[in-house]
Amino acid sequence: MLATFGDLIVCLCGGELAPTVADNAVQCGTCAKIFPYENGILITCGDEEDRATDVRILEEQRQRDKQARLYDAIVGVHVPSWSEGRLIRRHLRTVSSRVGLDVGCGTGRQTRALAMVSQRVLAIDRSVQSLRLCHAKLAQRNLASRVLLIQADLLAIPVRSGVGDLVVTAQVLQHLPTAEARAESVEKIAHALGPGGVLIASLYEWSGQPWRRQKELTHAGGISAYRFTKAEVEALFSTRFDVDSLESCLGDLVVTKAHKR
Ligand SMILES: C[S@@+](CC[C@H](N)C(=O)[O-])C[C@H]1O[C@@H](n2cnc3c(N)ncnc32)[C@H](O)[C@@H]1O
Ligand SMILES: [Zn+2]
Repeated sequence: MLATFGDLIVCLCGGELAPTVADNAVQCGTCAKIFPYENGILITCGDEEDRATDVRILEEQRQRDKQARLYDAIVGVHVPSWSEGRLIRRHLRTVSSRVGLDVGCGTGRQTRALAMVSQRVLAIDRSVQSLRLCHAKLAQRNLASRVLLIQADLLAIPVRSGVGDLVVTAQVLQHLPTAEARAESVEKIAHALGPGGVLIASLYEWSGQPWRRQKELTHAGGISAYRFTKAEVEALFSTRFDVDSLESCLGDLVVTKAHKR
């Protein structure tokens, strides 16, 4: 399994990763670090990596692990995730891809659809519990062999530069705790994509809704959230992308399609 994806992944130090003999881990040829491969998930975040990580990101990881089993049932309670999902799938139907990335894949709400249009998929999230559920869903549809699940921080994605031609990131970047982290995430996504690569992203929208009191807030369990105006979404991505479309889902979510310059 790891060998199928070996040409796509790389150690954060830039070294080559080779599967171990037992095929249950990869090891870096440069820094000798070993990343375990457990139950279909490549684990790259350890205590060492997390020492420098914003505590709010670690807090979110704990919360996502805790609520993973409930996630699919609650994702549409406060925002129209059904309408967002429809728009994302409509965009996906217009592309064909060799290598797709689902950045912040969670329990895999978009991963199956991505795996239908991409020959190989890298699905990345910090939450192991969410990745486990994602793996089970993919296995049910016989799609697991096309997807490498990677437990990693999206600000430290262990993939080769320019490896992807399509990135989906659904309801993720809004949870990064600072403007700097959100800007950095766009750099990381752009780094993973080759020129002309397509980005399909959804984010919480701030459309001045009178029933919403806060533009920036903390959900129960300590998850940071930021609501973007459409102009902010465009400004965020246009550092590295040409934004092709921005569509609103009832003023609560914005779905954008863009391509890397
Ligand atoms: C609202 S969920 C969205 C999950 C999925 N994309 C969907 O549409 O259902 C946000 C996901 O982003 C992940 N996430 C948030 N910050 C992250 C980070 N810094 N690195 C990796 N994953 C992160 C969370 O663990 C969570 O699974
Ligand atoms: Zn290394």
